[in-house]
Amino acid sequence: MNTLQTIFSRKSVRSFNGHLSEEELSNILRVAYASPVGRAMYENVHLTVITKEELLNKISANAAEFFKNPAMNPLYYAPMYILVSAKLAGAADNVGYSNCATIVENMALAAVELGLGACHIWGATIALSQNAELVKELNLPEGFTPCCGLILGKTDAVYEEREILENRIQTAYIK
Ligand SMILES: Cc1cc2nc3c(=O)[nH]c(=O)nc-3n(C[C@H](O)[C@H](O)[C@H](O)COP(=O)(O)O)c2cc1C
Repeated sequence: MNTLQTIFSRKSVRSFNGHLSEEELSNILRVAYASPVGRAMYENVHLTVITKEELLNKISANAAEFFKNPAMNPLYYAPMYILVSAKLAGAADNVGYSNCATIVENMALAAVELGLGACHIWGATIALSQNAELVKELNLPEGFTPCCGLILGKTDAVYEEREILENRIQTAYIK
């Protein structure tokens, strides 16, 4: 796949049937490390690769409670959740959040190329960031906040180029 084919084939995948191999994870992480970061301040972002089932279940249960929907599993029983945290300069640090989102999307595109399932996870991540006790279990460096996340796993889902609706995003032209 070339880059455009990868982007046009990407979709959110929420069903998984296996763990990533070490090589697959290593490729996903290399892509994260290749991501652009504002002013190249890579020391202001942090990745946590979570595969410990007990912790994944806690994060999921915490989000179900946060959203008052005990029936939901906001991590979709994925075998891996990569949390991207940032050292934010205040709540309005849009560069901090953008760094994390950029890293997550890069990894999501790499997942397409590798035939892995992946989905951005905002819900469980905001719920996690609001639970100080649970955040402690992540052993994040001092001053870091969980901002964005990606679930990943092997999947039966198949990627093929999708029709992209014109005008899906309102677009203004100023000439
Ligand atoms: C910032 C961001 C946060 C998202 N958070 C979640 C989430 O918490 N749970 C979920 O199931 N999907 C989540 N998604 C996936 C979107 O629902 C999905 O991208 C959108 O419906 C378009 O579908 P597609 O990704 O298959 O093209 C998120 C996507 C983005 C970009």
